[in-house]
Amino acid sequence: MRWMATAGKCLLVLGLVLTGCVPVDRRGSDGEDTERGPLTLATAGDLTGYLGSVLGDWNREHPDEQVTLVQLPDSADETHAQMVTDLRRGERGRFDVLNIDVSWTSEFAAAGWLRPLARDRFPLKSFLRPVVDTATYDNRLYAVPYVTNAGLLLYRKDILAKEGVSPPRTWAELEEDAKTIAPKYELNGYAGQFLAYEGLTVNAAEAVYSARGSILGDEGKRVTVNSTAARQGIGFLARGVREGWIPRAALSYKEEESKQAFQDGRLLFLRNWPYAFASASAPGSPVAGKVGVVPLPGPDGPGRSVLGGSDLAVSAHARYPDTASRLIAYLTSEAVQRQVLTRGALPPVRASLYEDPDLVKKFPYLPILRSSVLHAAPRPKSPRYDQVSLAVQAAVQDALAGHQTAEAAVERLSRELHAVRTH
Ligand code: GLC
Repeated sequence: MRWMATAGKCLLVLGLVLTGCVPVDRRGSDGEDTERGPLTLATAGDLTGYLGSVLGDWNREHPDEQVTLVQLPDSADETHAQMVTDLRRGERGRFDVLNIDVSWTSEFAAAGWLRPLARDRFPLKSFLRPVVDTATYDNRLYAVPYVTNAGLLLYRKDILAKEGVSPPRTWAELEEDAKTIAPKYELNGYAGQFLAYEGLTVNAAEAVYSARGSILGDEGKRVTVNSTAARQGIGFLARGVREGWIPRAALSYKEEESKQAFQDGRLLFLRNWPYAFASASAPGSPVAGKVGVVPLPGPDGPGRSVLGGSDLAVSAHARYPDTASRLIAYLTSEAVQRQVLTRGALPPVRASLYEDPDLVKKFPYLPILRSSVLHAAPRPKSPRYDQVSLAVQAAVQDALAGHQTAEAAVERLSRELHAVRTH
């Protein structure tokens, strides 16, 4: 059966273009590579373990274009390091398609590691508006949005209901509830991802953006962080640790550790991505049925999330670029995007899915998520984003650990960002 399917496909395409079934010239008439064959797809840890089944479906349908999944660590920074090492190997690299964090596109594209993609091969118009920009650099498309993300506030709705309190909309309300209600139930108040890695950059940027500040302006050309808003945002988080309503343990949390603390019933409030809500609410979770979700709070009303997520890119040295593009088109198809949500609990990039009544019934947080994504702020777009993020992490970690005041940390960060920009 398997060979028949393959032979059938070869015959079918033979009349159109000579493709992977027989070794042919790699260049088609339009200058595009047309040869097809097996590939690797490298990605950060698949926290909800769904990607194997999605790729399994592709592999069954495409026996000559099998995709091997390469799972890198959970931490965005470690995945970044491993991808950079591989891409620097040029033709000797082993990653063909890369599921890159939305914040790496500029760096990877500027380094010449990614193959520019033809816009008309992908359904960009059907994606949520802000996501396409994360895949472009210098007005060219270097990746295709695959998963989006926005930070949300998870809270223990059983406890707030008992206390007759509605979920916090402002930092003052969050702080008050974390200080007064959490201890009554022997819980810690609030946590996010405060280990020094990309997650801390995200949490710090959200605090700054929520106070209407910014880190860099003009597409990364201007340092704007030295502001009252940044001092207020970083100061809010630092005060939480100092006063104990953010537990010190949170200084070692990434997504998974913070999710576990909430899911084990140790936290009243948690900032995390929506997958944590799905996981904490799933049958078997000790807090299933007790979890609510609202937009992130800010100083005087709803705050602003950072735009998260990942884009699919093709290595400049990918073995079969045509298969790579076809795989990306498949992974961003409406059917697979639906599975990204239903199997992976990850936010799809296709706008229509957020208004699908069946999905909204099953994932009641979709409207909040949609509006959080639409209002989310991108991380600074810079070919040196990795260095920008490292500077943010170091300064903010010192403020959170109490080694430096928020004011001093912001001033130092501003100086370091000027140095990153000018070197
Ligand atoms: C999530 C987001 C990603 C972000 C990372 C930080 O994976 O989707 O954009 O950089 O978390 O830890």
